[in-house]
Amino acid sequence: MPKVSVTPQLTYARINKNKEGICLEVYLDHSATTPVDPEVVEAMAPYWSLHFGNPSSPHRLGVEAESVLTQCRRFIAQTMQVNPNEIVFTSGGTESNNLAILGYARAQYKPGRIITTSIEHPSVLNPISYLRANLGWQATKLPVNSHGKIDPADLAGAISPDTSLVSIMLVNNEIGSIQDLAAISEIIAAANRKRRQKIVFHVDACQAFGTVPIDLAGLQIDLLSISSHKIFGPKGIGLLYVKTGIHLQPLLFGGGQEGGLRSGTENLPAIVGLAKAVQLAMTGFPHRAPALAELRSRLVTRLMQIPGTFCNSPPDGAPHIVSIRYEGVKAEVLVHFLEQKGVYLSMGAACSSRKNKASHVLQAIGLSPDQASSTVRIGLSPKLSPEQIDYACDIIEASVREVRDIYG
Ligand SMILES: Cc1ncc(COP(=O)(O)O)c(C=O)c1O
Repeated sequence: MPKVSVTPQLTYARINKNKEGICLEVYLDHSATTPVDPEVVEAMAPYWSLHFGNPSSPHRLGVEAESVLTQCRRFIAQTMQVNPNEIVFTSGGTESNNLAILGYARAQYKPGRIITTSIEHPSVLNPISYLRANLGWQATKLPVNSHGKIDPADLAGAISPDTSLVSIMLVNNEIGSIQDLAAISEIIAAANRKRRQKIVFHVDACQAFGTVPIDLAGLQIDLLSISSHKIFGPKGIGLLYVKTGIHLQPLLFGGGQEGGLRSGTENLPAIVGLAKAVQLAMTGFPHRAPALAELRSRLVTRLMQIPGTFCNSPPDGAPHIVSIRYEGVKAEVLVHFLEQKGVYLSMGAACSSRKNKASHVLQAIGLSPDQASSTVRIGLSPKLSPEQIDYACDIIEASVREVRDIYG
C-alpha cells in the first residue's frame, strides 16, 4: 500500500446514536453496499487533486501515478497469493463477471457449453443468456437444494464434451449459501485431466471476499471476481483475477491498459481505495467471521421468536447474510415501515428489489412467489454492535406486528 500523508478527520455520514446513546439509524443492508471506511477515504484523498497524474503519461506525475498503481496491484496480488500480472482492475463485480464470461467466450474459436447455477447474480446469468440468444452457446443451470447448495455430483453429471466454462458463485448474495468450491474444483480438475480442451472455472466472489476464506493457491480457480463496495471500499471499482495462461478477449478497446484487457485511464483514487479496503478486510479477517457469527446468532435467535418467522438462509451459510420470511407480511411494506424508523434492509438483491419480480434465488430454493414476496434480506457488518442488533430486532418485531395488524 502506498503511504499517504493527508489526514482529514472523517467519520461515517450516518449517525446512529444520539446524545443519550439511543440508536437512531441502523443500516442492515451491507450486502447491497457498505459505507466507505474512513481509513479508505483517507488513503484515497491525495489521489483526486494532488497526485492526479495519468499512469500512462510520460512525465513525473504520470510515472508517480504508475508507481502507485503498481504498488496497489502488487499489494492486492500478494494478499491474494497470486501474481500482480494476474490482477485486472475493472469498474466492479458486474464488469468482472462480464469480462470473465463474455471475454472467455469471445476468445474461443467456436461456441461451447457453460455450466452455471440457478442462483447466480444477474451479472453472470445475463451475459450467459446473451451468449445463448446471440452467439450459439449452450448453457446448463444446476439446481440448488433448499439450502441453496448445488450437489457437486450434478456438476460431474452435467459436464459434457462441449463444456468449456463453469461459473459458480462462492457466496450467494440473497441467502448467503456457500458452495463447496473444493469439491467443485476437484471435479473440474478431474474432468480436465481426461480432456484436451481445458474447462475454465470462474468464481463470482463478490459477496465472499473478506468474510469467507478463498484458497486461490490451493483450488483450481481460473477467474475470480471481486467488488470493492462490498468490503468498505469505494463503488465503481473491482477486479478480475485472471490466472496466467487463461486467454480472454477484452470487452473495451482503446489504449490497452490492464494488459490490454481493460482499456481506459485507470481510476487511481478508487484503486488506492480498493487496495486499502483489501488491507483492512484481510488484517481484520481472523476476527470478522467470529464477530459476524455472533451478531448473526443474536439476530436470528431474536427474530425467530416473532411468530410466523422462517429463516431461508442455511445454518452453515455466510455469517453476514440472513434471509428471513414473515408469514402474511409483504416484504416491500415492511421495508418501508422499517425505513420510517431508521432501520434499513432490503427485500433481496438491491439490483432486483425495485423490479417487483419474485426472486429467482428464493424460487430456486423452493419458495413460492408468495413466500418470496414475504422475504427480507439482512446484511450484517462486523462494525455493528450487539446493542444495535437488539435495537433493530425491537423495531422489526414492532413493525411486523404493525403491518400484520393493518394489512393482516
Ligand atoms: C454476488 C454478486 N456478484 C456481482 C455483483 C455486482 O457487483 P457490482 O455492484 O460491483 O457491480 C454483486 C453486487 O450486488 C453481487 O452481490
